[in-house]
Amino acid sequence: MSARTRVLTGITTSGTPHLGNYVGAIRPAIRASADPAVESFYFLADYHALIKVSEPARVQRSTLEIAAAWLACGLDPQQVWFYRQSDIPEIPELTWLLSCVAGKGILNRAHAYKAATDRNREAGEDEDAGVTAGLFMYPVLMAADILLFNAQRVPVGRDQVQHIEMARDFGQRFNHLYGEHFTLPEAAVEAQVATLPGLDGRKMSKSYDNVIPLFAPREQLRKLIAGIVTDSRAPGEAKDADSSNVFQLYQAFASAEETAVMREAFFAGIAWGEAKQRLFERVDLEVAPLREKYEALVAHPDRIEEQLRDGAQRLRAQYATPLLQRLREAVGLRNLAQATTTTAKQDRAALPVFKQYREADGRFYFKLADGERVLLQSVGFDAARDAGQLVARLKREGGAVLRATEAGVHAGEALVGHLQAGVDLAEVAEALARLAEEA
Ligand code: TRP
Repeated sequence: MSARTRVLTGITTSGTPHLGNYVGAIRPAIRASADPAVESFYFLADYHALIKVSEPARVQRSTLEIAAAWLACGLDPQQVWFYRQSDIPEIPELTWLLSCVAGKGILNRAHAYKAATDRNREAGEDEDAGVTAGLFMYPVLMAADILLFNAQRVPVGRDQVQHIEMARDFGQRFNHLYGEHFTLPEAAVEAQVATLPGLDGRKMSKSYDNVIPLFAPREQLRKLIAGIVTDSRAPGEAKDADSSNVFQLYQAFASAEETAVMREAFFAGIAWGEAKQRLFERVDLEVAPLREKYEALVAHPDRIEEQLRDGAQRLRAQYATPLLQRLREAVGLRNLAQATTTTAKQDRAALPVFKQYREADGRFYFKLADGERVLLQSVGFDAARDAGQLVARLKREGGAVLRATEAGVHAGEALVGHLQAGVDLAEVAEALARLAEEA
């Protein structure tokens, strides 16, 4: 077993790589993959692409372009795992196993799904209008991507942190029920990862239609850069470097010295046309050799296909297939001729528990925990009896007496406590029901 840290990155194959992807993801990831203490996993998330894109040719083209872009930028498939999600049938298989432990209430709160239902509600439509089960299940598929390889670190943008938390949650629930199979991943949010401004100054993003394609031919690159929105300061007028998208783009490509020179030039009133020309030359200096490699790669899709298949095949043999075998066994998808066994975990009757205790403030508290996971934390009570009676009541009457408001969880009028982050009332009710069943 290697002791290297496993770092995993998925790229949805729904678009053409642009400069923002390059600066924010491709370039830093490839640099990081050179670290010998890291075992890197890079994959093309083409199942995820199907959630957004229903044009088959676009999915295929995007997969080719993204694979070629990463290879052209220096990813070495002999040093890192490089594969395509849909070449690993264990991913959808694990997705199902995780679906059976994932709380629906948790998925209800996923940002992408919530945004869609909020939009519908605002428009006076049925809240699930046009929402596919694929969008709803997106976090489970992503959890399978991560947990299948026991990735420890997942570098993501802020918008994806919630998904990593969900992957932890599903993995933890699975471990709790069936034994310790999964490592719980951590999101790695790079604080200073450059978000690049696009042509209009907003974040460069396909959804704003303001991108500069990474491998636009030289002349097109020049034209696009010439079209970047600026203020109307005339040549000779001093320009504020820090608020300028032209400057920020330049900085993402230039060395510290080059950047300092450009800052001076802004101060001295460089004309926008000239600043853009320098930006163009600087970007092209870095991108031109990559573009050449990219074009050579894209001209031979069969070679890329071959590399991807090879990566997936080795990865399945080494990790995915044996793990799925163990997981099938763990959940009871077993050879019928084999003697029935329970896992040690289940012999220990993994029931939720109430823990009652007194704090330094002299007050009495309880919490409801399910394995390692705290579900509900009570408020403080002046008397131990009050806390005890409430615990008894919850055991007796279950989750039906509870309701959640902004202020916390109430039983009737009384404030009981607070749900832990990532927990919903349904999960508490389910834990109480399990307790009641065993009582
Ligand atoms: N959801 C990610 C994105 O949109 C892509 C992705 C899919 C991913 N599976 C993943 C990222 C697993 C990290 C780990 O950017």
